Parts: sequence; structure tokens; C-alpha cells
Amino acid sequence: MFHPSILLFALIQGHAHAHTFIWGVFVNGVDQGLFKGIRTPAFNGAPNGGGYSNSPVKNLTSIDLRCNVLGDIPAPDTIKVAPGDNLTFDWHHDKRNPTDDVIAESHHGPSLVYISPDPPTENSFVKIWHEGLYESLPFPQPGKWSTSSNIRSNGGHMNVRIPEGLKAGYYLIRAEMIGLHEGEVSFEDNQIRGAQFYPNCVQIEVTGDGSVELPEGVSFPGAYQYDTPGVVYDIYCSTQTDATAPCAMTTYPIPGPTVWSGAWAETTSAPAGPLIGGTAVPPWSTWIKKSIVTSATFTDKKSITVVGTSTYSAQWSSSYQTPAPTVRW
Ligand SMILES: *[C@@H]1O[C@H](CO)[C@@H](O)[C@H](O)[C@H]1NC(C)=O
Ligand SMILES: *[C@@H]1O[C@H](CO)[C@@H](O)[C@H](O)[C@H]1NC(C)=O
Repeated sequence: MFHPSILLFALIQGHAHAHTFIWGVFVNGVDQGLFKGIRTPAFNGAPNGGGYSNSPVKNLTSIDLRCNVLGDIPAPDTIKVAPGDNLTFDWHHDKRNPTDDVIAESHHGPSLVYISPDPPTENSFVKIWHEGLYESLPFPQPGKWSTSSNIRSNGGHMNVRIPEGLKAGYYLIRAEMIGLHEGEVSFEDNQIRGAQFYPNCVQIEVTGDGSVELPEGVSFPGAYQYDTPGVVYDIYCSTQTDATAPCAMTTYPIPGPTVWSGAWAETTSAPAGPLIGGTAVPPWSTWIKKSIVTSATFTDKKSITVVGTSTYSAQWSSSYQTPAPTVRW
């Protein structure tokens, strides 16, 4: 579906409070370029009015859990890959640069990757990788988690490999980090807190003569419920040694299904080559907050003129949408 209001974005320098999203994809170590193939989430508020990008999705029944806010809108380009290719998603917070903090240090939690035919249908997301808590530390430390101790510590790199023999066609990869730092209570019970989901989708076209079809998977929204193990979880009690305490836990159940047996058992990190394109968020003149799309012009960092607003509601098509050459960036 074409949303005429979501056309372009104007400049921000150093926005505060931004959360994490994917800035680039390396295929076998070769960068495809800034935001290429990526359905970049919306900015949630006027960038120089205290707004920030990609607020977490916390509502598990929202369509935003599928590919984040604006996730229904195709990016203008699609990344060509072959079965067996090694993909590295380059997650960042403020800039695509080694000095960026990737995701706030406190945002401990699991990382997950799913693949679905594009467009997704009922139960079409198949999990191909996940990683949760991999080292417990003595109470009250949070332990070592995928988001903070792997992805963040490795400059934002999240690796996944295209399944062997996968049939040619268009697919969406849904990569995700989950911050559990406020996840000791469910969003349903306390909307100030709850687990923070950072899903981001990447458009790929698988080439070749593979014949492997994806099995039945799960739906987003749908795969995670508020009572799904691992959605409500107190990371500060996860390693508690006092078994008499009420929240003692020693293992972490990663939400969602098990990893598909057709996925690669090991994900490898191909050495990443040079970055292609910019490293900063380019001009941004449209943003979205609570389903209201606002278009504006900027004269300088302090002055915004709002030129129009419209209501946004995701409109996922049931047939493949050829990406329009519209430049979102
Ligand atoms: C969660 O999303 C659903 C579906 O969009 C909506 O009906 C509901 O009001 C949302 N809940 C909250 C607390 O925002
Ligand atoms: C992906 O990584 C694996 C393990 O390092 C390697 O054997 C394989 O050749 C790589 N695939 C491609 C297409 O480079």
C-alpha cells in the first residue's frame, strides 16, 4: 500500500533518546549501503522537539510487532542473496559508527531472527536463529545477555545465514532485540513498564534453484503473548542464588518457537568490509507518533513548520508489492 504522506525525512543532528534499529546489511562481509533494503522504523516525534526514533513496541497485539512502525511500507530496494550467504545486520542507536553505543547498556535481553515469505501470511514467520542469556552472574547482577554482551559488544553486528537450498523468491527477514530491563511486569498490567521489542524487517530476494520451502511458522502479532515464557522476566533475579526468594530463576526461556531444523546450526561472523554511504541519519521531515503522521519543514534545528498531518494505519497487502523507487531517505 502506498502512503503518500510518508515520503521523506529531513535533517536531524544528534537526536536524543534514540533506540536501536538496523542501519545496514553486509552480505558475505560486503556492505549493501546505508538503510538499503531495510524497512526503517518511524521517528516517534519531532526530532528536535524531544522526539526519538524507534520507540520500542510493547503492545503484543499491535501490528507494529511485525516489522515495527511503518513496517508495512516497502523500502525502495531489495537485497539479493543466495542460500548459504552470511548476512550481518548492523544495528545502531545514533550513528553508523564504531563509537555508537548500539543499544543502551541496560537493555539486556534475547536476540531473534525470523524469515517469512514477503508478504507474511498466517503463521509464516520461521525462526532461524536466537540467543538469550548465556552466562549467569551472581545476584543482583543481570548476567550476560545476547543484546548487551553479544550484539552491543560486537559493534551492533548480528549474524544469520540464508538457509541451505531455500527456494528462490521474495522474503522478509524479521530481526529483533528484546530489552528486558523493565520486563519484570507485563505491559498489559503496567503500561509504563513491560518488555521492549525492537523488531526490524529487511527485504531480500533469494536467488538460485533451491527447492526448500519454509515450514509453518508463527504470526506477528500472535507469536508472543503476555504469558509466553520469557516475555515477563526479572533479569535481576534470574541468577539469584537464594532459592527461598520469590523470583529466583536460573534459566531463560527465549520467547517464540524453537529454531527451524533447516536453519544453520552455527552463525558465523564474516569479516565486515568498509561501510557504503553515510553514517548519520539524513534529513527527516516526516515523523509519526501515536499513528499521527506529521510533515514539516525545518529552517534550523530549533524551528519546525508543520505543513500537514494525517493518520497512519498499517496496511499490509496480501500480495507481493514491488517496491516503489521512492526515496524514503
Ligand atoms: C494494543 O494494540 C491493540 C491493537 O492495535 C489495541 O486495540 C490496544 O488498544 C492496544 N493496547 C494499548 C494498551 O495500547
Ligand atoms: C558463510 O560462512 C561459512 C562459515 O564461515 C563459510 O563456510 C561459507 O563459505 C560462507 N558463505 C559464503 C557464501 O561466503
